[in-house]
Amino acid sequence: MKFFIDTANLSEIQEAQNLGVLDGVTTNPSLMAKEGITGEENIRKHYKAICDIVDNNVSAEVIATDFQGMIKEGKELASIDDKIVVKIPMIKEGVKAIKYLTGEGIRTNCTLIFSAGQAIIAAKAGASYISPFIGRLDDIASEGADLIGQIVHIFDNYQFKTEVLAASIRHNMHLIRCAELGAHVATIPYKVIVGLLNHPLTDKGLAQFLADHKKAQESMVSA
Ligand code: E4P
Repeated sequence: MKFFIDTANLSEIQEAQNLGVLDGVTTNPSLMAKEGITGEENIRKHYKAICDIVDNNVSAEVIATDFQGMIKEGKELASIDDKIVVKIPMIKEGVKAIKYLTGEGIRTNCTLIFSAGQAIIAAKAGASYISPFIGRLDDIASEGADLIGQIVHIFDNYQFKTEVLAASIRHNMHLIRCAELGAHVATIPYKVIVGLLNHPLTDKGLAQFLADHKKAQESMVSA
């Protein structure tokens, strides 16, 4: 299972990279705005800075919603660095853009997937990744993780090369469920990555080990 970090924050990306478990990054226009990145040149520079931190797979989203605009923007984004994956929304023009960019050898991530039908169309167009948003489905009282299982099953049936990138992951159990269901990739907020490390029994056990070690050292010195 690949781990992407779902942020445009350079410190968080660097921290996750330093952990040694990171396979990529996903951004979106909201995450870029949250970091205060505005203007074409700054946006390009920021994507380049992200690419310089990680080894591969940096999803950069187009803003255009028409075919020609998405192609133009997609090519510009892809020219920033070979690590860029062009993120395209699941709309009719987006499907055409995925087909076109795939033909040009540019990797794509079809975003805002909320149904198996949308996933199948994006895979048939040749998307490298499809991103089902499970947290947002949970928000509307639908079982988001079920969609991951359904899409993985369908893609297995036909050996689609498209990878299922579980997105909108809000907590540890989302991540574990996606791993059980065979998602190829999960994009995870920094706090969830760090949260995976934690268990109260680990902290308690380590404190005990260190205390016992200290006691033994002290009794050796005083003997
Ligand atoms: C995916 O690539 C999106 O950036 C992301 O996972 C959206 O998550 P959210 O629903 O928490 O905003």
